[in-house]
Amino acid sequence: MAANAYKIAVIPGDGIGKEVVPEGIRALDVAAAKFGLGFRYETLDWSCELYAKGGKLMPADGIDRLRGFDAIFLGAVGYPGVPDHVSLWGLLIPIRRAFRQYANVRPVKLLKGIECPLKNRAPGDIDMIIVRENTEGEYSEMGGRHNRGHADEMAIQETIFTRAGVDRVMRHAFRLAEKRGKKLTSATKSNGIIHTMPFWDERFAALKAEFPAIKTDQFHIDILCAHFVQHPDWFDVVVASNLFGDILTDLGPAVVGGIGIAPSANLNPEREFPSMFEPVHGSAPDIAGQQIANPIGQIWSAAMMLDHLGHADAARSVERAIEDVLANGGPRTRDLGGKATTTEVGKAIAGAIR
Ligand code: NAI
Ligand code: MG
Repeated sequence: MAANAYKIAVIPGDGIGKEVVPEGIRALDVAAAKFGLGFRYETLDWSCELYAKGGKLMPADGIDRLRGFDAIFLGAVGYPGVPDHVSLWGLLIPIRRAFRQYANVRPVKLLKGIECPLKNRAPGDIDMIIVRENTEGEYSEMGGRHNRGHADEMAIQETIFTRAGVDRVMRHAFRLAEKRGKKLTSATKSNGIIHTMPFWDERFAALKAEFPAIKTDQFHIDILCAHFVQHPDWFDVVVASNLFGDILTDLGPAVVGGIGIAPSANLNPEREFPSMFEPVHGSAPDIAGQQIANPIGQIWSAAMMLDHLGHADAARSVERAIEDVLANGGPRTRDLGGKATTTEVGKAIAGAIR
């Protein structure tokens, strides 16, 4: 195993990141033993804690150090005392951009054994994947502040949509829809945002011509949010800009039982650089250190990593273990109405993989 083991950079980060990451590793190790894979982990203490000790979120050569890994497995970064824009722009965003992880892929699936906050929804009704643009759009560095501290102070934030950037994320979403054999929805707002969003719609129409077999539709983001709640069964793959995707991927998990179970992959589909796998949730300072965080989002992210590394069978076995534990009345954390600890849930899922 050691000779051809995958090299994984592990960044637990802050808060509950440090509690859920070990459960993700536990699942990976059990899956590795079962499927004859090897993982060599290097744990990096890059975090707000490091920053507070007078350092930076990550060392100056951080990106270069990550370059040689096969994948990055991350918990969550951010903590009270460090402004959120400092922690986000000091670690996550530089990694996503340096490694061209332009497709942020976030599945939303109603699993058996989870009480859906929506009435009359059964497992199978809600099963979609949101593809969020991850490197440009509304989260750009262009803009600035003017007349700081004066009454006429102002702030300008530019949105950047490039044809290359929009096309590559849409193409990824179309290919995913092709694999799932269904349809693709585009999140837009071309009525209110008159330059970038009509451009987004134009590129969607142009790419649609490349994929004539895929059914498509599009909704303005406001009504799309309403449809996520009222008609979540309408959606299969949804492609969205950075900001819209960010919002939809907190809303999506909320309609299937909460953010604690939601996984994500930051993909560089061309595999020129390592991709990064992390739960959708943050560091949850309100519950950190209590061993009550749900590790499922992290463990499911490990499954997405296995899939990306080319081991679909191992990935499926981790996903199935999550489903089994939930469906068969296994231990669950407080957010899902249980009393189990983070580790108890992690161990139960590891046992189910085995
Ligand atoms: P959050 O996701 O950390 O927490 C939102 C709510 O969900 C809290 O009530 C929390 O207790 C609950 N929650 C989250 N994950 C959970 C889990 N696994 N099990 C049970 N309950 C869970 O988002 P919030 O509060 O907006 O941000 C907290 C910090 O995390 C901030 O510093 C923020 O910048 C950072 N953050 C980092 C992200 C990342 O590293 N990718 C993503 C989102 C936020
Ligand atoms: Mg978010």
